[in-house]
Amino acid sequence: MSRWAVKAGLASCLLLAGCGESPEQAELKLGQQIWDGTCKVCHLNGLGGAPAKGNRKVWAPRIEQGLEVLIAHALNGFDGAEGSMPARGGNPALSDSEVAAAVKYMVSQSQ
Ligand code: HEC
Repeated sequence: MSRWAVKAGLASCLLLAGCGESPEQAELKLGQQIWDGTCKVCHLNGLGGAPAKGNRKVWAPRIEQGLEVLIAHALNGFDGAEGSMPARGGNPALSDSEVAAAVKYMVSQSQ
């Protein structure tokens, strides 16, 4: 391989931020971006009764429901004992997979 090709390969690697990364890691990274943009306002400190990211105690019983239930609640919205979770965090522009990635990210940081 020429030197040029090596450089080009490295550049595309940096641009796409995808090299050496598993699909799971890429999804968590996307989830973090979505979380920062839409979910953080409530889920950082527990605004309005939202389970705060990183609070294992409040997340444990929720995680027990299973990821599918959590994702469905995040997509469709959910009125619980603590408050009201708006559908897609109130951001209808988010796709199903973006919302799911944000849920996975938040769960990964809370168990
Ligand atoms: C306006 C505030 C608000 C925003 C923004 C918000 N949430 Fe929530 N969310 C809540 C509240 C309040 C609850 C707790 C409802 C309850 O259990 O009473 C909750 C609960 C949840 C749960 C737990 C559901 C369950 O079954 O226990 C998940 C998962 C969740 N939110 C994901 C998200 C994601 C992902 C985003 C961003 C895309 C987001 N939320 C944005 C307020 C918010």
